Amino acid sequence: MAEDLVISDSRDKAERYRIMIPQVASLVKDEGDLIANLANIAAALRETMNFFWVGFYFVKGSELVLGPFQGPVACTRIAYGKGVCGTAWKLKEAILVPDVDKFPGHIACSSLARSEMVLPIIKDGEVVLILDVDSDQLNDFNETDKAALMQIVRIIEKII
Ligand code: SME
Repeated sequence: MAEDLVISDSRDKAERYRIMIPQVASLVKDEGDLIANLANIAAALRETMNFFWVGFYFVKGSELVLGPFQGPVACTRIAYGKGVCGTAWKLKEAILVPDVDKFPGHIACSSLARSEMVLPIIKDGEVVLILDVDSDQLNDFNETDKAALMQIVRIIEKII
């Protein structure tokens, strides 16, 4: 497909996601390289949703290691069970953090991040990747984001 993303000009989040998600599915369906696909997914999410930071961490041994992302430079390694990302890995569950200062052990890669959503990507019952999205606004994520990002997770789970 052409590498142009069509972005809805709607102010409605759900509508922006609705236009983006099929394009993401189409963008990755004929490409077998995971890094290339994750890089494009991070770019599509950042471009469409204006997230402060969006990216992936790979499970490598007992740590998460930074993968493709868009936004300010970030922590390269996060231990199992640490921070929001390490906790989502441990729990195998998506975590929505309305206020990062109220999440015990939150790892502040940027002092500007105020709210966060983290989703595990699972293969054969094990977490293999983490999708992390940060906002510089408090309480910026809701169930609409969670449902839409879960759809992105499902697309990724099909290509890993
Ligand atoms: N805040 C995350 C660390 C990763 S950065 O936000 C990119 C955490 O607590 O795990």
